[in-house]
Amino acid sequence: MILNRRNRILRQSQAIRAMVAETILQPQDFIVPLFIVEGCNVKDEILSMPGYYRLSLDNTVAEVKSLWAMGLKSILLFVKCKDEVKDKYGKEAVNPNGLMQRSIKAIKDAVPGMLIMTDVALDPFSSDGHDGVVENGEIVNDITVEILAEMSVSHAAAGADFVAPSDMMDGRIAAIRQALEQNNFTKTGIMAYSAKYASCFYGPFRDALDSAPGFGDKKTYQMDYSNRLEALKETLMDVEEGADIVMVKPALSYLDIIREVKNAVDIPVSAYNISGEYAMVKAAAKMGWIDEDKAIVEVLTSIKRAGADLIATYFAKDIIRIMDK
Ligand code: PBG
Repeated sequence: MILNRRNRILRQSQAIRAMVAETILQPQDFIVPLFIVEGCNVKDEILSMPGYYRLSLDNTVAEVKSLWAMGLKSILLFVKCKDEVKDKYGKEAVNPNGLMQRSIKAIKDAVPGMLIMTDVALDPFSSDGHDGVVENGEIVNDITVEILAEMSVSHAAAGADFVAPSDMMDGRIAAIRQALEQNNFTKTGIMAYSAKYASCFYGPFRDALDSAPGFGDKKTYQMDYSNRLEALKETLMDVEEGADIVMVKPALSYLDIIREVKNAVDIPVSAYNISGEYAMVKAAAKMGWIDEDKAIVEVLTSIKRAGADLIATYFAKDIIRIMDK
């Protein structure tokens, strides 16, 4: 055959493949989610997330130091609070001495350079296990938004660099931005979970925080996975309302959405490689059905290739280890 172009030329060796690779993972791409619990010296493996732990604050601080040493510079905090402090309005979420607020301070003191992002939603604090306040079996938007704004201010006061509302109430980005401005937190950023879908893949996370909804599901606030245009509507509104970073979540079944959003906005796009996506890789690897390290690199590269500038992932430490090999 005489061909005037042979595409395999650019694939024939590792050297040439590396040279022409369009997508390259870097440590600064990753945000590390951390689950914090009350107590001392707790390191409690999450059953449905093998190799991932709930840590008490002392162990969390040690973990953050080691993440920093590995080149990971951004964390996303979640707390698991005790059942006895949960109530209808998630009051514990705005407690200045709550676990989240204490954690932010302790981490800032120990590793001042670490970028601290905090989850803003009521589910870990709500006796109903929903992201918002429940009245007569419904998740009420406007009261919830007021609490989320107050919660954001309380995280900012404790030293959070970014608040990350993951609740999907309407109008919360504008309300949070206004509340931050009114309280003079003009340097606190907002990473908005803008296109967050109602997904079965959150299961292991809800085990981690014991935050499964007490009744029903989250479909009246999280998005329907049949929809694409709606993701653009949600995201563009969050940009208008003042988000600094927008997020698509989950990642793997939503790579098309990540790309759409990336093409539509002029601010950084993040994607959340969520708990169920982690669990699937772990489970298949444990069975010997896939190579875990290769799967991690492929998954994360595909999310970045789709358009994610930042990726929240439980594989952050693994990918650093693999990249260093
Ligand atoms: C809830 C919240 C969820 C996750 C992050 N924040 C679960 C949910 O919406 O029920 C999921 C993260 C993951 O699955 O890794 N506000």
